[in-house]
Amino acid sequence: MKITVENQPKKLAGHTTLVIFTTKTNKGKKSTIAVAGTSCPNDLEGELQKAHSEGLYTSNNGSSLYLRNQGAKEYDHTLFFGLGDEKSINYETLRSAGGHLVKQLRASQILKVDIDLASATALLKDIELATQALTEGLQLADYSFDDHKTLSTPDKPIAARLMCTDAKLSKAAKAGNKTGTLLAEAVNFSKWLGDSPGNTMSPDLLAKAVVKEAKGTGIKVTVWNKARIEKEKFGGLLGVAQGSAQEPRFIIMEYNGAGPKKKPIAFVGKGLTFDCGGISIKPSSKMEEMKYDMCGGANVIGAVLAIAKLKLKVNVIGYIPSTENLAGPAAIKPGDVVTFRNGKTCNVDNTDAEGRLILADALAYASEKKPAAIIDAATLTGAMVVALGNSYTGVFGRTDQIPQLLLEASKHTDEKVWQMPLCEHHLDDMKGTYSDLRNISSFSGAGSSTAAAFLSHFVDESIPWAHCDIAGTAWNASNRLSYVPKVGATGAMIRTFVKAAEIFK
Ligand code: BES
Ligand code: ZN
Ligand code: ZN
Repeated sequence: MKITVENQPKKLAGHTTLVIFTTKTNKGKKSTIAVAGTSCPNDLEGELQKAHSEGLYTSNNGSSLYLRNQGAKEYDHTLFFGLGDEKSINYETLRSAGGHLVKQLRASQILKVDIDLASATALLKDIELATQALTEGLQLADYSFDDHKTLSTPDKPIAARLMCTDAKLSKAAKAGNKTGTLLAEAVNFSKWLGDSPGNTMSPDLLAKAVVKEAKGTGIKVTVWNKARIEKEKFGGLLGVAQGSAQEPRFIIMEYNGAGPKKKPIAFVGKGLTFDCGGISIKPSSKMEEMKYDMCGGANVIGAVLAIAKLKLKVNVIGYIPSTENLAGPAAIKPGDVVTFRNGKTCNVDNTDAEGRLILADALAYASEKKPAAIIDAATLTGAMVVALGNSYTGVFGRTDQIPQLLLEASKHTDEKVWQMPLCEHHLDDMKGTYSDLRNISSFSGAGSSTAAAFLSHFVDESIPWAHCDIAGTAWNASNRLSYVPKVGATGAMIRTFVKAAEIFK
């Protein structure tokens, strides 16, 4: 989808539609609807109110009224589109309306559309942020994964123009549209990584996709092969990779937007391109969803790409350990002991708790670089899905600093984040019998906290850190948000990571 900001309504070739957003106000039992920030073309005000009084148009967020062959002279048709209650309009309202609007345009096969921007942004303080949110909603919703469909033709691109007649506002709108587009492009790229099946997104193919996508962004990408990973003593990553015919990879993405002296924020992402559980094999029902077990890695990749494309004045490094977890003849066995990069040892009591094994090496390596902070993302535990379902990402930390940073950032991005407990009891539960650590807790319950406690062993205590368990939010998360696919990868936390990097002090 191509979105531009334009000043002059010019008659376009072919059939065109003007979208005008409307709001509603409730007074007692009576609700009224209005158009904010712009004048309703010709005599459409009457039509609008009539449709409302007849119960044909509610002006709820996502509701619509399509008037054919009516409206301003530059357009063939007018589409009134509801934002919802005037009192509760915020940036998320526009993101949501953008998502609904794309669905409506696709359903009606409208490929050329002008949007009256003032009608969307009039009730919000910051036109740049408002435009950014609307663009995010439009671009994020206009994603589908069709790589392997041969029986249907792919959707034609929609061209949307955000009409903004005020020159001063148009400058802010252009900036917001640019930011929103770049962010959504990065999120949609991560969604594509996640949605790609295990056979087209192996660790090697993931690394190659990163190298290709990072071209021209200023990001330096380094990819370690198995020999290098052995040399660097990543015992956890190698242990998990043993059961697969595919070689593991370790992907490093470095972006310096703040000069060489500033310490970077390190992002670490779990990149399991498929997790069958290994010898502790998973049940077959829904096992196909474990192609999404690399979404932590994919979303770290998306965050670093977005930060670089937005040219933020920050330094970041992304670390993505990537492997399959399969049950081949050489697979790691329950009871085996691995030695990690930092020398700590661990009993692998359950080969399905593999994410923590590959993150351990990556976190230890990241710690050696003494970054200003470490933030990791992983589809780490089924227990996270039990605890928070598919709305909230759970965030853990040894201290509150980085969890609070992420909570603060999420207020700007409207992603849902919930801080979870991590204490010495959880650490106790991960002590090993025959080695330093065990990879599953010696008690039942609090599986997400004990997993976080395990990870904390690999983060230098002097480095502020947060672990984000996106097991519930990384895919099939939205039966709720118009701009997030109902099924498939979501790009959870990417926009929040970008904001966190921006506001980190
Ligand atoms: N990738 C899974 C976690 C997962 C499960 C994410 C379902 C999303 C949906 C992870 O590798 C795993 O299997 N974890 C185990 C850990 C357990 C053995 C301690 C789990 O959660 O069952
Ligand atoms: Zn697993
Ligand atoms: Zn896993």
